[in-house]
Amino acid sequence: MAVDTIPVETLSEEQAKAELQRLAAEIAHHDALYHGKDQPEITDADYDELKRRNDAIEAQFPQLVRTDSPSQRVGAAPAGIFAQVVHARPMLSLDNTFSDEDVQDFVSSVYRFLGQMPDNSIAFTAEPKIDGLSMSLRYENRKLVTAATRGDGTTGENVTANIRTIREIPQELPADAPDIVEVRGEVYMAKSDFMALNAQMEAEGRQTYVNPRNTASGSLRQLDPKVTASRNLRFFAYAWGEMSQMPSDTQWGMVQVFERWGFPVNPLTRRLTSVAEIIGHYSDIGLKRADLDYDIDGVVYKVDRLDLQARLGFRSRSPRWATAHKFPAEQAFTTVEAIDIQVGRTGALTPVARLTPVTVGGVVVTNATLHNADYIEGIGNSGQRIRDEEHDIRIGDTVIVQRAGDVIPQVLDVVLEKRPEGAAKYVFLTKCPVCGSHAVREKNEKTGKLDSVTRCTGGFVCRAQAVEHIKHFVSRNAFDIEGLGTKQVDFFFESEDPALMIRTAPDIFTLKARQDQSLTKLENIEGFGRASVRKLFEAIDARREIALNRFIFALGIRHVGETTAKLLARSYGSYGAFSEAMQAAGPKFGEAWNELNNIEGIGEVVAASIVEFFKEPRNLEVVQRLLDEVRPLDAEVAVTTGSPVVGKTVVFTGSLERFTRDEAKARAESLGAKVAGSVSKKTDYVVAGPGAGSKLDKARELGVQVMTEDEWLDLIAS
Ligand code: IVH
Repeated sequence: MAVDTIPVETLSEEQAKAELQRLAAEIAHHDALYHGKDQPEITDADYDELKRRNDAIEAQFPQLVRTDSPSQRVGAAPAGIFAQVVHARPMLSLDNTFSDEDVQDFVSSVYRFLGQMPDNSIAFTAEPKIDGLSMSLRYENRKLVTAATRGDGTTGENVTANIRTIREIPQELPADAPDIVEVRGEVYMAKSDFMALNAQMEAEGRQTYVNPRNTASGSLRQLDPKVTASRNLRFFAYAWGEMSQMPSDTQWGMVQVFERWGFPVNPLTRRLTSVAEIIGHYSDIGLKRADLDYDIDGVVYKVDRLDLQARLGFRSRSPRWATAHKFPAEQAFTTVEAIDIQVGRTGALTPVARLTPVTVGGVVVTNATLHNADYIEGIGNSGQRIRDEEHDIRIGDTVIVQRAGDVIPQVLDVVLEKRPEGAAKYVFLTKCPVCGSHAVREKNEKTGKLDSVTRCTGGFVCRAQAVEHIKHFVSRNAFDIEGLGTKQVDFFFESEDPALMIRTAPDIFTLKARQDQSLTKLENIEGFGRASVRKLFEAIDARREIALNRFIFALGIRHVGETTAKLLARSYGSYGAFSEAMQAAGPKFGEAWNELNNIEGIGEVVAASIVEFFKEPRNLEVVQRLLDEVRPLDAEVAVTTGSPVVGKTVVFTGSLERFTRDEAKARAESLGAKVAGSVSKKTDYVVAGPGAGSKLDKARELGVQVMTEDEWLDLIAS
């Protein structure tokens, strides 16, 4: 049995230790995706399940709690584009409850903690848990001075300029408000605004957004407040941080004061005393959920009296006086009508279940991804069983589908009793359904195991890969060409007319010239029209100069996502330097290869994938044609901070005492330095703390300047 499926009660200490280590890494990964990039990979329910398992193991083996345990952290560290704000009072998280019994336990624990309180004498507020981003708004002398995201709970990002564009947030408080006020609450995007935005994106042929929460988050983390302003974000106030004077002595009273000061507060907030009433209100809100114009994922209960809140106090990361009662993921039964295979940009074959349409939590679900062959079989990513034996997914099967929060629907299980007679096991394709090339599961060189993904080996021959590549190329974080959405790319790709066809990315930039010389005019084709054609050509021309990181990301090199593209752009500075270095790194040893591997954040798999890309003559030919048309702008190798460390490469080693390694790295990078993981001739400084070993030796050997933490601090202060 895989360790991650062993019940917590039967884990040995050794297994528990390994499990806690695995969970810490896995949860950190999902935290980074969720908070840092706004791109969750798993459902909220699965995430909660990981956290619950971590908590349960820690409860059983308290001696094994890790310093980097998810139970010791709140959210993720700030992503680094905005200035940091240290919260005057930390922004905490809430404990979760999932069942009526959990709620009863919560209420009992409050009574037990306070002692000698008669039954039903403690009032609780109950209000929807808004699925947005928490925000702390600081007012000094009644003027809004700072707005900060939660970040890691202690330090958030300063998004004041963007928050000022939100109409629902007052810039000024009435004269009777105290001198220092921090109002906290949730910034969110209304479902209706989200749908309107997506309709507009679609009409403009642009990529649509995934869900309101991530869109709200992305809209707030814009460097240009005009973008935030256009998104019509909203706010609910429900908590506070520092207050020079308390205007009320209850939670309920505080929220009413906020309303009087001009903040929106949630109309479904109630003040209740018995567990029965609380659970009743939870059910009511659950029934209204689909009709609300904002996403919620549970109901928050808080002890109403603030003196009792103060007595109850906090555990390490959450208050004892509050809990979030989460809604269960919504499920429904339906049948699998077909299993289609989609071919992605990198040739990955992804099976998709076509379902008899069914409503799950107010949304009609018709498709669900089946991920890969193992998933269909009932086997998860690390080889563990995710469904019982025989519960492989077959065409004709009745299945349970689940939609949790805002994530894409999943097929949870198969109802074996309803399996039609003669339903055959699904046999995964061995040939690409589009180009007929062999489809294979690659072997992972490190683990020796078969990769879970089946890939078409057709490469450039495969039309599906080619068209997906163009879609990636024009996508929002790559070339972001307005007017070239999925539909339009399909049209140009399928066209046989030399004046219209786009088969590779460079063809986009020659389209206008080919049109000018041809009699077939795009504007005469249905769906285009004169104005939209003019706009399209303008949008294409506007991208003839492009940021280097976008250019690199757009190339669609496997494993090179946005973050890696940014690292590469920052490290090499110009496309010429980058491509030259990648070709020099081809043999996978030597200086250029080492330098690539030395970039912090770039591992061997990524490095190998990049050099492979530059070894393929066909790639070089396409890139060359692209470079005839567009000019990647040199990246600012460093922010022009005027700091003496701009453009310098620094390595931190040993146990640092004045700051954490992450902090040291963030600080150095914000000043324009590059932080590397190992010492080479290119290293400018090695900052060594106590216990520094081989890196320090290497630095001495190469004659690299070595300094103490204090010397480094002096240097960056100068
Ligand atoms: S109270 C000390 N009330 O949920 C606790 N939080 O899991 C202060 N949230 O970070 C939070 N709706 O972003 C509270 N009505 C509500 C909420 C709410 C959403 C979020 C908030 C918080 C997270 C905790």
